[in-house]
Amino acid sequence: MSTIYREPEAPLSSYPAVHEMEAVRVPAEGEGGVYTQSWFPLCLSSEIASGAIVGVPFLGGRVIIYRDEQGLPRVQSAYCPHVGADLSLGKIVDGKVQCPFHKYEFDVDGRCVKTGIGDPPPRGARLFSFPAEERYGVIWAFNGEAPLFQLPSFAYPEDELEIEVYVGPPTNCDGWVFATNTCDVQHLVHLHEMKEIDVQGIQERAVWNDWGFIYNLKGIHGVGCRIDWDISMRGSTSFYQQGMVDDWWLGIMVGFSLPGPQEHRAFVINAVRREADTDEARKRAREQLGYAAHLSEFTVLQDAVILQTMHFRPRAFTRTDRLLAKFLRYLKKYPRAHPSAPLIN
Ligand code: FES
Ligand SMILES: [Fe+2]
Repeated sequence: MSTIYREPEAPLSSYPAVHEMEAVRVPAEGEGGVYTQSWFPLCLSSEIASGAIVGVPFLGGRVIIYRDEQGLPRVQSAYCPHVGADLSLGKIVDGKVQCPFHKYEFDVDGRCVKTGIGDPPPRGARLFSFPAEERYGVIWAFNGEAPLFQLPSFAYPEDELEIEVYVGPPTNCDGWVFATNTCDVQHLVHLHEMKEIDVQGIQERAVWNDWGFIYNLKGIHGVGCRIDWDISMRGSTSFYQQGMVDDWWLGIMVGFSLPGPQEHRAFVINAVRREADTDEARKRAREQLGYAAHLSEFTVLQDAVILQTMHFRPRAFTRTDRLLAKFLRYLKKYPRAHPSAPLIN
């Protein structure tokens, strides 16, 4: 795996001066015709029934989502290469996507394998096939020919978890702007009203890897519970955290969608652990999920109110913004591409 960002392991002790902040300006999604290469949530698993084809906006264009004969999600460009009909109006026939207009058919790799009229399929006629994953009740696609890294996972197997997913309102900024929250230590104190957190120490102890970072956050959350969480980013838009809320484990993963430039929705996944296969354990897990919904809704809504109207302009940082400054440098150098552009637009 290639290394995209490395700094010496020495503790962070500096932060950019005001006049240097312009140098860490992060390109907007779509700027120069390219987008960050990351995993993006597209829809809920429950929206893709067997045999259905669903169309959604992605990367400023449109894709279709359906299930193959094994039930695995497939994500492909939505416009038929013949004359451009929207394939979400088509149907699945013998495991292939059939265009509604002249009945061309496309296999799971996007190859045109048949025309309706009986002519041989045009050479090179194909759909763009995105790497796709189904994880924790959400269908994700990677912006690229092949994933540069894998989606994160929680510490416990999925069959031990009780999971609830909700989708936030449309928000008028790039998902990575919301993702900067993970490093914005000042807002943890002042917006989310967290107490007893080691504001400077968590910045010194953050551990970076090729595709993000992890740091430990202990304290009292604004809703009143005691937290001990490992907070992580992977890629440009997958935020995940896991750890203890008082005496029970909670995992939260948030993926920011990318329908087009300067817009996104937050897909929020709450996961708690079912400690045994009993009605009592299931009841306790449901109660914990109820509290988790309150906790993450409280936090995400506080952020969303600010994000709806802000103009993200990092210019005047202080010492307590050094983790945020480092994340902006990481995002500035982040790989960007748009290989599906000729086929999804
Ligand atoms: S537009 Fe799809 S087969 Fe003609
Ligand atoms: Fe926040």
